Amino acid sequence: MNGIEKVSAFLDEAQVYYLATVEGDQPRVRPFGTALVHNGRLYIQTGKVKPVSKQLAVNPKAEICAFSGGKWLRVAGELVNDDDRAVKVVMLEKMPSLKSMYDPDDGNMQMLYFKNAVATFSSFTAAPETINL
Ligand SMILES: Cc1cc2nc3c(=O)[nH]c(=O)nc-3n(C[C@H](O)[C@H](O)[C@H](O)COP(=O)(O)O)c2cc1C
Repeated sequence: MNGIEKVSAFLDEAQVYYLATVEGDQPRVRPFGTALVHNGRLYIQTGKVKPVSKQLAVNPKAEICAFSGGKWLRVAGELVNDDDRAVKVVMLEKMPSLKSMYDPDDGNMQMLYFKNAVATFSSFTAAPETINL
């Protein structure tokens, strides 16, 4: 498993991560679950109508945090919109439960990938491990 696959596998195992964005000088955070590695990029999925999407359009800086099995992962960087239809299709195949809410052609489904991002695995027992995405 390479670095980005390790990050994606950890997010899948944790099932839930928390996505922080910024709105002016106010941090915003919410639970997310979507994660996908496609063409060497780590993607997440949301809806363009959501406040989280609007915050990222103004300021792409974001950080996610997940905890599982005594370890926690943080990925900090920028989230970039990708309107490529193919990646939406792959996301819906990976997480079919999304199909009741999203369609690649609904004008709402949004895929975002991490750019200039650093993933860090931490625990109380080992030195942090850093992966550049
Ligand atoms: C376990 C869990 C996983 C979630 N995963 C996602 C997700 O991957 N993408 C998404 O857009 N919303 C997801 N949601 C819903 C968002 O947390 C919710 O829509 C939130 O209000 C979005 O933030 P906002 O209101 O600041 O836009 C999830 C909610 C839960 C409880």
